[in-house]
Amino acid sequence: MRFALGILVVFSVAVREFLGQETIAVTTTIGEVIGKAEIVSSFEKTGKLHKFLGIPFAEPPVGDLRFKKPVPKLSLTTTLDAFAYNNACVQAYQFPNVSYAEDCLYLNIYAPERKNETDKLSVMIWIYGGGFHFGDSNMYLADYLSIHGDVIVVTFNYRVSVFGFLSTGDSASPGNYGLWDQQLAIKWVHDNIAAFGGDTEKVTIFGESAGSASVIYQGLYTGNKNLFQRILAESGSIMVWWASTDEGLRYAKTVGMVANCEMESTHALVLCLRNLPADILLNIISSIPESDDFASFPFRPTFDDDFITFDPKKVFYSNNFHSRDVVQFFSDFDFLTGVNILEGVEGLTPMFGVTDYINFAPNRTEFERKLVPLLIKEGYGEDAPTVLSKLISTEYTNWTDPNSLDNVRDEYLRMHGDFQFNADMYKTLDTHSDQSSTKNTYMYMLDIEPETRAAIEQVPWIKKAAHGEELPLVFGYRFSFGEHLLSPKDWEIKLSTKVMTLWANFAKTGNPNYPDDLGINWSQYTSDDQFYLHMTRNMTSENVRQRWNIGAANFWLDIVPSIAQMKTCETNYPGGINSAESPSPCVMFSLLSVCLYTALATLF
Ligand SMILES: *[C@@H]1O[C@H](CO)[C@@H](O)[C@H](O)[C@H]1NC(C)=O
Ligand SMILES: *[C@@H]1O[C@H](CO)[C@@H](O)[C@H](O)[C@H]1NC(C)=O
Ligand SMILES: *[C@@H]1O[C@H](CO)[C@@H](O)[C@H](O)[C@H]1NC(C)=O
Ligand SMILES: *[C@@H]1O[C@H](CO)[C@@H](O)[C@H](O)[C@H]1NC(C)=O
Ligand SMILES: *[C@@H]1O[C@H](CO)[C@@H](O)[C@H](O)[C@H]1NC(C)=O
Ligand SMILES: *[C@@H]1O[C@H](CO)[C@@H](O)[C@H](O)[C@H]1NC(C)=O
Repeated sequence: MRFALGILVVFSVAVREFLGQETIAVTTTIGEVIGKAEIVSSFEKTGKLHKFLGIPFAEPPVGDLRFKKPVPKLSLTTTLDAFAYNNACVQAYQFPNVSYAEDCLYLNIYAPERKNETDKLSVMIWIYGGGFHFGDSNMYLADYLSIHGDVIVVTFNYRVSVFGFLSTGDSASPGNYGLWDQQLAIKWVHDNIAAFGGDTEKVTIFGESAGSASVIYQGLYTGNKNLFQRILAESGSIMVWWASTDEGLRYAKTVGMVANCEMESTHALVLCLRNLPADILLNIISSIPESDDFASFPFRPTFDDDFITFDPKKVFYSNNFHSRDVVQFFSDFDFLTGVNILEGVEGLTPMFGVTDYINFAPNRTEFERKLVPLLIKEGYGEDAPTVLSKLISTEYTNWTDPNSLDNVRDEYLRMHGDFQFNADMYKTLDTHSDQSSTKNTYMYMLDIEPETRAAIEQVPWIKKAAHGEELPLVFGYRFSFGEHLLSPKDWEIKLSTKVMTLWANFAKTGNPNYPDDLGINWSQYTSDDQFYLHMTRNMTSENVRQRWNIGAANFWLDIVPSIAQMKTCETNYPGGINSAESPSPCVMFSLLSVCLYTALATLF
């Protein structure tokens, strides 16, 4: 077969149906696109798939269009052969054999053949992760998910790093271009997917990590009314440090300084940066050392009073008047979210004091004096009360053997998982379920020891599912890192088929249990019952459990902020807390907690 392919290619270059392969023409709002039909055998199912690759949904965001909202694609001048993936968006770390360019706003459609022309298929739109700095839609091969779930899957690229998120905090460069790219792709799908057999009333946006934060941002943007009905968020919400920044101007100026740009006005600065070749701009950014003026992952979503009209860090707090309307809008989608048991591997980075994560084995002193303070600095600022460090160290102690290096490392991962992912997830879930009377809310937690892993996780002491390790299950282990594909074990394949079924069920009905019932009876999350699906190798209705890790979530959502806010109270209270005036309730409350926790901490 492979041999025959090689020969045929030579002789049939000009033939539309070369290799005897069936093609499909679809008329879209931008013109006619031609896709290819192929037979796909996912693990359990075989079917015909129509693939349309590399469809442009925006004008190339180059030249004058850099650092601007995307411009919808003008009509195609000729019929488009949508046979090959197009460029990924430029980014600092690049895989071999992937072509990267600024001209990267393309989408791919995986549409199963319909049994009946009048059938309408549910649609899943994938938003990749990568901390808003990396990512590429083409490496997520959605053919298995599409055939297994009998759903249309769309993947697309959005601008990342400086190109996606440079912000000067004013009209020179308001930022959030990557989010606008996502929104335009979603709009394109809404306008066109019916022609591919899709049902515009059954559209789910799903994403992982920064893609998870992205689907939540899209769900909070009221301009998305009627464009999709459900949100599936894997490992990430938007209140955490990595999902937004209000230091955009500072980072932009740092780049401008290193790039020798005119700094008098932000407009001049942005014009100068716009004129630099993309690879030079990338080199400049990579050369800037991390500092207060240039955080790691500096380009992130930001308040622009246009896409983001609220403070992302506070949006899900119910007393927040400014976000009431957007939160109500968000609660009108069906929502499924979850995390993996070892999300904390995201703490294994230089910014958190870990330079050699393979040999990472901090002792207790290092944990308390260096690692915990680095977390506090990122989350709560340099002038956070010192007692916070003691409080957090105490919470993350294994009292059976506090000084064991293995235990310290486990506690470090637990701390970062809770701080960067788990607490945030619970706040988002509680808000959604409390506000939402008619829409569904579901939670999962993935607890497996994967055997088939991407290289980055091949660290002997990381055994359980780390950040990103639900991805192979969701995509049937279909990844292309360059040209490398994963080969899963039997149990992983079985679990993957279940996860694909649950995800596709949710896309079809808003309920992961139907229409294809696996007998799990996954109960909805409510802030009272806190049901979740404990995803393990063998899943039965016994896996539907309650209240995973709730104590830790409350610790980060209630206790830590109330202590951290002490510094604000002290400043607001003239003369400090020792002056003659009576302390504000805020100071009182914080003092009580601090005393309590200091007392606890000194007990041990
Ligand atoms: C396709 O579905 C429609 C509506 O459900 C039905 O009336 C029609 O008979 C079906 N056609 C075929 C070929 O099954
Ligand atoms: C803990 O680690 C630090 C840094 O590696 C080292 O300087 C210190 O001596 C260690 N302390 C103990 C008690 O082992
Ligand atoms: C605490 O440490 C003990 C022994 O070192 C270990 O058996 C136990 O699993 C640890 N507990 C947690 C919650 O990690
Ligand atoms: C890149 O592509 C070339 C040519 O197809 C191939 O020989 C090489 O092995 C590929 N490299 C990787 C890392 O996939
Ligand atoms: C599903 O779980 C709910 C409780 O969450 C229970 O009331 C119901 O009977 C269960 N249904 C089945 C079919 O097991
Ligand atoms: C899963 O099920 C298989 C066969 O039913 C069994 O052999 C295996 O021990 C189970 N694994 C777990 C973790 O329960």
